[in-house]
Amino acid sequence: MKLKYLFGRKEKNEHKIIRQAARRGADLLQPEYHRPTPECPNPERWSMYDSMTAEVEVLEFLRCLVTTIKPRLVVETGTFMGISTLWLAEGLKHNGFGRIVTCEFDPAVFASARQRIAASDLEHWIEMRNESSLETRIEGDIDLLFSDSDMPVREQEVRRFLPQMNPAGLILMHDASSHLKVVREAALKLEREGLISVVLLPTPRGLVVAQKRAGRK
Ligand SMILES: C[S@@+](CC[C@H](N)C(=O)[O-])C[C@H]1O[C@@H](n2cnc3c(N)ncnc32)[C@H](O)[C@@H]1O
Repeated sequence: MKLKYLFGRKEKNEHKIIRQAARRGADLLQPEYHRPTPECPNPERWSMYDSMTAEVEVLEFLRCLVTTIKPRLVVETGTFMGISTLWLAEGLKHNGFGRIVTCEFDPAVFASARQRIAASDLEHWIEMRNESSLETRIEGDIDLLFSDSDMPVREQEVRRFLPQMNPAGLILMHDASSHLKVVREAALKLEREGLISVVLLPTPRGLVVAQKRAGRK
């Protein structure tokens, strides 16, 4: 505590990544460097921009899911730099309808995402909120939920939005690898409680694709 006081607070990882990206002036692709897991032994075969933005292949998957299931309402928690938001919005633009509500609670991170999104041609499809996923109010049925905020709150997030999930819709929980544990365990717990059915995609950071069980036909 005393050292922190003397030397100042450690820079938040999100702020550091945004600062480095701004200095570079361009998004730089690199091999994924999260550690190998039994389900994904060669993470270096995937690509990433940085350790917080979803893997590039997952970004492509997000766009493809949007064009495949044609959601009217997409909800994303954890906007960060807005890169996954833009990939989801690309899918909506291709479909020609729908909208995405994305929330980011850190004001500095939110401001940087707003700049990126304003500079794109996809702003029309995106509603940005500088709010916590645990407080923001969503109107209507959610067809696609991408849960990508802080890992320890993902379970709460899914529980919070579950009543509004379209039973034919999809819930995605990022960072669900066996190494990162907390999200994987949360998803399996929700499954044991009979609330959702899960598929664990073996990507470097792990991705749960789930569906709520209530109302499934
Ligand atoms: C892993 S990053 C999101 C990455 C982004 N979805 C992407 O792939 O481009 C997580 C972000 O969630 C934000 N965050 C954490 N907890 C949150 C919460 N409860 N509500 C909203 N945002 C949150 C963090 O500030 C951070 O920017």
